[in-house]
Amino acid sequence: MSAPRITVLGSINMDLVTTTPRLPAPGETILGHGFSTGPGGKGSNQAIAAARAGAQVRFLGAVGDDAFAQELRSALVVAGVDATLLRETMGLSGVAVISVDDSGENSIVVVSGANAALCEPTDTELAAIADADLLLSQLELPLAAVTAGARHARANGTTVILNPSPAAPLPDQLIACVDVLVVNETEAAQLGAATLALVPDVVTTLGARGATLRGPGGLQLRSEPPAVEVVDTTGAGDAFAGTLAASWHLGREVALARACAAGALATTRAGAGSAPTHAEVDAALGRQ
Ligand code: RIB
Repeated sequence: MSAPRITVLGSINMDLVTTTPRLPAPGETILGHGFSTGPGGKGSNQAIAAARAGAQVRFLGAVGDDAFAQELRSALVVAGVDATLLRETMGLSGVAVISVDDSGENSIVVVSGANAALCEPTDTELAAIADADLLLSQLELPLAAVTAGARHARANGTTVILNPSPAAPLPDQLIACVDVLVVNETEAAQLGAATLALVPDVVTTLGARGATLRGPGGLQLRSEPPAVEVVDTTGAGDAFAGTLAASWHLGREVALARACAAGALATTRAGAGSAPTHAEVDAALGRQ
């Protein structure tokens, strides 16, 4: 079976990460253990996860003209993602200020920077969407761009997977084009049952408890992840979404199991770009 062609329309950020004994309360100052920087952004993380899972991936997004831009571009290229259409705009690249506590839990503040410049896909970017088997997107880009991308995908027979994170109300024009929605429990509650009912497939991640899928014709699936020692949950949802997209052509049950395993394995490593390879997921599922 040939590798699926996935176009990711999404964000790319430099992650500025502090590790702390616990997450600070509002107004509180605490001492941390460490600090690191690394490429992130839900779009970039998911693109890298999909490439590691075996897909042929093209990335549509934007960096600034600052010191972070080259490292962000390189992270995509090193993972085998086609970054030739990555825009470079004047000003700052997106950044995410992240705290990770000793239990692996995190809190994240994203400042969009160059991501906010991608308001409307160009004709070349739209062609990359039409040319793909699958469009994967999130909500760290302007909603207008995500909606335009999804509409173009729908018009050209490209399957649309949307991870609506960070959660926001979804315009009717967007939700009408989504084939698969990937949400966590908080996002599911924020979107509401009426909105979720409009999408053929809804995948809900449940953290360490795995994930469920509600599909067409009343189909209900559930998958539990392998037991792991959690180091850092940052990017686990992105590893899940990217692997799900890369595995979708294998059927819902296999895709859900592979995504659950990928999400769990990602929590065993520090940093957002921690998605496992296809072989690592095979090993975790006992398929080798
Ligand atoms: O999902 C994790 C990601 O959220 C981080 O890499 C950060 O950049 C934010 O986009």
